[in-house]
Amino acid sequence: MSDNSASVDTPSLVSPSVYPSFFGDGTPLKLGVMASGNGSNFEAVAEAIAQQQLNAQIQVLIYNNPGAKAAARAEKCGVPAILLNHRDFNSREELDQKIVETLQQYQVEWVIMAGWMRVVTQVLVDAFPDRIINIHPSLLPSFKGINAVEQALNTGVKITGCTVHLVSVEVDSGKILLQAAVPILPDDTLETLHARIQVQEHKILPQAIAICQRSHFLGTGEEVASQC
Ligand code: GRF
Repeated sequence: MSDNSASVDTPSLVSPSVYPSFFGDGTPLKLGVMASGNGSNFEAVAEAIAQQQLNAQIQVLIYNNPGAKAAARAEKCGVPAILLNHRDFNSREELDQKIVETLQQYQVEWVIMAGWMRVVTQVLVDAFPDRIINIHPSLLPSFKGINAVEQALNTGVKITGCTVHLVSVEVDSGKILLQAAVPILPDDTLETLHARIQVQEHKILPQAIAICQRSHFLGTGEEVASQC
């Protein structure tokens, strides 16, 4: 259904999920996804839901770049795709306020930043305390910020990977939920390495949402921070 499986997989190490087999049998968790570009992680989450690996539903996709492929993927899945172009707002806070209003309008419970390439503010974090997660293409705390894959290649490390973490205002710094390690091969380019990292991203992002879902049904989002 997608280009998600086009990349070669390689041996990798995924950090253990605290609740590997949890599938909430109650009301599906209401997700809002934020994406800026391709949207392969959006599709991985949608696919996990369709395969009944994740008891959730995507209420809305928010995207900030006109023409982002993520929007087309959402429309294909029947998910409303709302463009909030950051260029139309005077400040990060103004954009985040509109994002919050949109997420609330769609009754979102947990927010998934799946390739959202904007720095978020306290406005968004305060509206969904401990209920926003992000996927980042490195083994945090190494290689924060943009160009994480390039940073890993240029630094000469032999293993990198991806991380799903809770979002705080400080970029790429919240509580880590899951990680997957990916070896860097001698002939790797930015493209080949990123493609293999994305294979792992598409696995651990739905798993991390399942962890959040369990904490959601147990109580508050704060529990996820203490249990992982
Ligand atoms: C991913 O590599 C993610 O880690 C980073 O942005 C990329 C988004 O990819 N934050 P996609 O748009 O989901 O394909």
